[in-house]
Amino acid sequence: MTLNLTPASTFPISQLADLLTRGFEDYFVPIHITEEVFLTMLRRDSIDLTASRAILEDDEPIGLGLIARRGWTSRLAAMGIVAHARNSGVGTWAMGQLIEEAKARGEKQMLLEVIEQNAAGVNLYEKSGFKKIRRLVGYKIENPQVEARHQLEEMDIYELARIVTRHGLPNLPWQLTGATIAQYTPPARAFHINDAYCLVSDPSKADVAILSLLVKTRSRGAGLSRVLLGALFANFPNKTWRVSPIYPEEMAFIFEQVGMKREDISQWQMSLAL
Ligand SMILES: CC(C)(COP(=O)(O)OP(=O)(O)OC[C@H]1O[C@@H](n2cnc3c(N)ncnc32)[C@H](O)[C@@H]1OP(=O)(O)O)[C@@H](O)C(=O)NCCC(=O)NCCS
Repeated sequence: MTLNLTPASTFPISQLADLLTRGFEDYFVPIHITEEVFLTMLRRDSIDLTASRAILEDDEPIGLGLIARRGWTSRLAAMGIVAHARNSGVGTWAMGQLIEEAKARGEKQMLLEVIEQNAAGVNLYEKSGFKKIRRLVGYKIENPQVEARHQLEEMDIYELARIVTRHGLPNLPWQLTGATIAQYTPPARAFHINDAYCLVSDPSKADVAILSLLVKTRSRGAGLSRVLLGALFANFPNKTWRVSPIYPEEMAFIFEQVGMKREDISQWQMSLAL
């Protein structure tokens, strides 16, 4: 068995989407990557296909490592090995190669998030030298009953991205950074009430994701996030609201105080100094 890496950019998008789907077969949450989902990931998360790698075993693609890049930092955006090739050292070997390639590109740190309950993944990344930064948590609430008391003001998502860059927590997970938020476009919508801001997926749908939530530094501690979430729930009634497990645990109280329930799956945000 000979293992090789080849730039993901040499494959058509349809084949990469299929390889990623197969790499995440039997995962903790069902994963089906269509071409459209794959293209959205590339655009939103700054994934560089020339630095991403297909893993080949005797010329047959058996896995994919997606690498996102911003300045001196790269992120392992996804790593999936097809089921029959798992647990035989392929992931460990590929990770070592990806780290060496990031160093050779002159990058200073590599980031990733891994599901805490994914023992093989956590084991692999710790073995490769990654250290935990913090736990990331998710929440959900169905059909919250709140009376409308405050008016939401809609704003440009791009403007929200600038505010997140300025006022967000240090070391925000990649998907919550201003750089990621700037890539969202309608039908996602951004709203604010005074110094409290949020980004949500299309709120005309039955399921709405809360994609960003921020209170400017000067106004923290005054309960504004609760006011904003209450106004969201009241203005768009009869929805299931979802917060995917990418929010720093230190923000958890924001969701708990409006009655949202923590999801079973959590993640570790991890980093490696290169
Ligand atoms: C996670 C994944 C990339 C690892 O690749 P792999 O080729 O299977 O990894 P390796 O064989 O090199 O190493 C896996 C390590 O986890 C360990 N492991 C596997 N299953 C485990 C389990 N259930 N509990 C604890 N450790 C486990 C293995 O023993 C091995 O450690 P060791 O070398 O110290 O014995 C692969 O399993 C995969 O694609 N899974 C589905 C997608 C996924 O979870 N991606 C990662 C999150 S982005």
